[in-house]
Amino acid sequence: MPLPEKIGFIGTGAITDAMVRGLLAEPAAVPHVVVSRRNADVSAKLAADFPQVLISSDNQAIVEGCNTLVLAIRPQIAEEVVRPLRFRDGQTVISVVAATGRSCLMQWIGGDVRLTQAIPLPFVARRKGVTAVYPPDADTAAVFTTLGSVVECETKTEYDLLAAASALVATYFGFMHRTTEWLAEHGLPKEKGRAYLALLFAGMSETALHAGKGFDFINLSREFATKGGLNEQVFQDFDGSGGSNALRRALDRVLERITQ
Ligand SMILES: NC(=O)c1ccc[n+]([C@@H]2O[C@H](COP(=O)([O-])OP(=O)(O)OC[C@H]3O[C@@H](n4cnc5c(N)ncnc54)[C@H](OP(=O)(O)O)[C@@H]3O)[C@@H](O)[C@H]2O)c1
Repeated sequence: MPLPEKIGFIGTGAITDAMVRGLLAEPAAVPHVVVSRRNADVSAKLAADFPQVLISSDNQAIVEGCNTLVLAIRPQIAEEVVRPLRFRDGQTVISVVAATGRSCLMQWIGGDVRLTQAIPLPFVARRKGVTAVYPPDADTAAVFTTLGSVVECETKTEYDLLAAASALVATYFGFMHRTTEWLAEHGLPKEKGRAYLALLFAGMSETALHAGKGFDFINLSREFATKGGLNEQVFQDFDGSGGSNALRRALDRVLERITQ
């Protein structure tokens, strides 16, 4: 599926910056991108870095000038930004606004648009993202396939669950940070710890990616846990001290927030 001639972004913050950089990295995947002026620093930097970026102070003009639109404002102001806009029937609208359901968005938009929701992550800037999309839509999939890979969700439940899982990024880095701190307290320079952990975790992710269809994480866990060995001990300690329960509780709570 070819990408549209022009993609418009309402809200130019961190995630728009990442998406635009991914779309326009050489070779550029789209001829033009229009971004809203706000945030002024981010939009100016994008326009300075890419001649294909146009800036507009008028959100309605962006809606009128682009067949595909990305809504990338914070949830707290989404209604006040989206409600006054007039969309064309059949226009493709991709909302990346977190924790804002389809029915609210459709009500604010008012028209008969092709609305999808997506959860891009900052790695889309390097075309290494994995983006959950709901409902499946060929145009939206084409945008995010350019930016890495896509997981199409057949139901809202699937989408909400992936939204909860996508909230693990800070915990992942927090886990690495706590380990780096612990290593440093015991005498390993932080820089060495960070370099080691980044490669260790990259190697683990690669192993999962190459494990083939139908692999199971618990099988990988067992494969690396020699009976009576160090890996087995750490996982048992982590599990036994409430680590797995803390993870489940955190996921339950974030899912509750997403589905409310
Ligand atoms: N960051 C991520 O990794 C990520 C991933 C997936 C989804 N999301 C979702 O994507 C949305 C944007 O996130 P973000 O991290 O990019 O937030 P952000 O950095 O705060 O960007 C939002 C931008 O919207 C602009 N804005 C405010 N009012 C506006 C208006 N009336 N018209 C046009 N633009 C306006 C803000 O400009 P000012 O700075 O001038 O106020 C700001 O630059 C959120 O709903 C977030 O949950 C984020």
